[in-house]
Amino acid sequence: MSIIKFVKKFKKINRTLFTTPSHSQGAGATPEIASLLGRKFFSCDYSEAEGFDNLSNPIGIIKVAQDNAAKIYNAKSTFFLTNGSTSGIVAAMNAILNRNDKVLISRNCHKSVYNGLVITGAVPVWFMPYYNKDWGIYDPVNIDYLDEMLRKNKDIKLFIMTNPTYEGVISDVNRVASVCKRYNVKLLVDEAHGALWNFHRSLGVPAILEGADIVVQSLHKTAGALNPSAILLIGNDSDINPKQIQESLNLITTTSPSYPLLMNIEGTINYLNSEKGRSKITELVKNVNRLVRTLRDIPNLEVYSYNNDVTKILVKLTNISGFELSDILFEKYNIEDELANEKSVLFLTGLGTTKSKLKKLEKALTEICSNNIKITEAQEDTNLMYTVEPRVKYTPALVWNKPYREVELKYSVSRVAMEVITNYPPGIPVLLPGEVIKKEHLEFLKDRKKIKVLA
Ligand SMILES: Cc1ncc(COP(=O)(O)O)c(C=O)c1O
Repeated sequence: MSIIKFVKKFKKINRTLFTTPSHSQGAGATPEIASLLGRKFFSCDYSEAEGFDNLSNPIGIIKVAQDNAAKIYNAKSTFFLTNGSTSGIVAAMNAILNRNDKVLISRNCHKSVYNGLVITGAVPVWFMPYYNKDWGIYDPVNIDYLDEMLRKNKDIKLFIMTNPTYEGVISDVNRVASVCKRYNVKLLVDEAHGALWNFHRSLGVPAILEGADIVVQSLHKTAGALNPSAILLIGNDSDINPKQIQESLNLITTTSPSYPLLMNIEGTINYLNSEKGRSKITELVKNVNRLVRTLRDIPNLEVYSYNNDVTKILVKLTNISGFELSDILFEKYNIEDELANEKSVLFLTGLGTTKSKLKKLEKALTEICSNNIKITEAQEDTNLMYTVEPRVKYTPALVWNKPYREVELKYSVSRVAMEVITNYPPGIPVLLPGEVIKKEHLEFLKDRKKIKVLA
């Protein structure tokens, strides 16, 4: 029986539980929170009462749901993650990498990869994707560069890439996987933003069908699930042992998983796979495409469209920086974007993005462009900090818990950074603990007075 069916059935049994959680299905819930969330939410929140399963060793309802998902995704195994893609990425790294193993990581990775480096003690070798200055974003993985990196570094065990990127840029994972296989390197694809891809091929080809060993997706980002619902998939042809993934997940996962979240993961996957779900995605794609076509006709406005994920709308205006456009939308139109940089602004859409929401954006952008608001010339692209090649002096694990001190920025050059420096979103690291601070970094850290360095 599936998780949702079992919870529905269990509620009817009305068993008297002297177990956790102590809110006793809502009876003891804090009134303010109960009225905000609704008592029904609490009424589905159980622990491992008789008949429920164990997320760290599923043999019952969770196993049924995960096996069903594996069929849907055409994967060897599927793991439900109630702590986001972050936990999946860390667990996958931990299952593959040992201390001092080398891992090639595309620098536009999410900061969870850093967490994985601390936990595994692996040595990062950084893959620097080409930085597109016109848009302030990273380009797809360059296959020749990847081949060269793997040829030069024969002992790489794993390559980690993000696809699509935060801004929706798509790489050719099929070719990436072929190169990795040639060098006997495992491939982990952070597909956090591609959770709709398995259900609508016009968005992008899912990495699990392209030869990736492990894929991690956030169901909460585009697929309409609650924060932080996610899944981890193992590729059908991969020799990764699912038991290793389970054991790694068990190291970092709660022993009291949220049943509302587990039901949400199961329900979201089944919905996306249903006729209704698929037509909802089709409707979203149609609506976004329609908006993009309209936006393309607006003078002074450009929409990014070079093999990108349709659900990410990236625009830029001539004469107005991305930051300024973002401010105008926020202050004057009460519209909040996902991310802005000097050049462009990103609007994230997903299952909950209605036609009327898109219409509001269209109206605001049309008005801003027709008023021809000219604030200032676009400034130097501060995101260029992402082009500074990292120099790893110590691995993140080696400097973890080591003493540090704060120094003024001007005295920090050539010292070893002891902070994760990143803008969030997108959470891409600029400097990581163990990396040498270069002169080029300072220019982009002007807002700070001090920085933590190795003592
Ligand atoms: C590319 C990418 N990977 C991973 C994550 C982490 O996902 P989650 O929030 O599900 O832990 C994010 C979140 O922002 C992300 O943008």
